[in-house]
Amino acid sequence: MNKIAIVGCGNMGLIYAHAFLRYKIVTPENLLLIEKNQERRQNLSLVNIGQVVTTDDKSISECSIIILAVKPQDFKELSVELRKVISSNSLLLSIMAGIEISFIQSELKHELVVRAMPNLPVEVNMGMTAFAASEKLNHDQIMLVENLLCTTGRTLFLKDEKQLNAVTALSGSGPAYFFYFMKYLIDAGVKMGLDEHVSSILAKQTMLGSFHLINNGQKNLDEYISSVTSKGGTTEAALKIFNEQHMGEVIIQALKSAERRSEELSLK
Ligand SMILES: NC(=O)c1ccc[n+]([C@@H]2O[C@H](COP(=O)([O-])OP(=O)(O)OC[C@H]3O[C@@H](n4cnc5c(N)ncnc54)[C@H](OP(=O)(O)O)[C@@H]3O)[C@@H](O)[C@H]2O)c1
Repeated sequence: MNKIAIVGCGNMGLIYAHAFLRYKIVTPENLLLIEKNQERRQNLSLVNIGQVVTTDDKSISECSIIILAVKPQDFKELSVELRKVISSNSLLLSIMAGIEISFIQSELKHELVVRAMPNLPVEVNMGMTAFAASEKLNHDQIMLVENLLCTTGRTLFLKDEKQLNAVTALSGSGPAYFFYFMKYLIDAGVKMGLDEHVSSILAKQTMLGSFHLINNGQKNLDEYISSVTSKGGTTEAALKIFNEQHMGEVIIQALKSAERRSEELSLK
């Protein structure tokens, strides 16, 4: 069985720890948890999900996978310690936003690096994670990473790491766009006289039903829009306002702005 280390056991690190254990990819004996925050470390020792160790622990060198789940700004400090203990065969899987593979390689003096961009629904195993790998990884190693990441939802392998900026803008930030749209659907319902909980149920179930339709149905998006839009009807009245306000163009501009920001952060 693979021995796995998770460095940074905050929100994301813990999600992976629980997902790997749930799918029996690792046992608590073979899962090393490395956390700087004292309160979090104490909490980790109280629950039997892994071995709580520090960054200088020699057993880190026995891990086939090391997951880097600290905040991007903490990576440089971490790398000073970590580079002393990682073995050259270990795979490093980073989920740190905006930190490029080449930077991780040079800071840790290590070739085998994968960079992944998950999104928030990994919390409920419905995440979307895209990942790219350094050229040194072979097919089996990429599959190993894929098997780990898919414990939290769907995965997508990208040949070109640069596309992770667009991924960050679309699926990384994407949950916030849907929450935003949902918030205003609910607000609109309330303004039209519905109770908030009624408006919320209507909005959520409509989102869920629409997702299943586009995911499982036979029509494309334009055909589904036409299916709901009858001539002179209510949907047409609403879509007319969206079009007059150039909503489609606003969405494209917003995502391009997020992509540019992701590129800027990678260069810092
Ligand atoms: N949250 C998301 O939706 C999301 C999505 C995609 C990618 N990510 C990436 O996931 C990473 C983790 O995010 P998060 O939300 O889980 O952050 P988080 O909750 O702050 O967890 C990071 C943990 O790492 C600890 N830490 C810092 N330096 C360390 C060190 N040298 N050794 C061991 N532990 C150390 C931190 O301790 P302190 O609190 O004491 O600093 C903190 O407990 C980030 O790089 C982020 O870009 C997050």
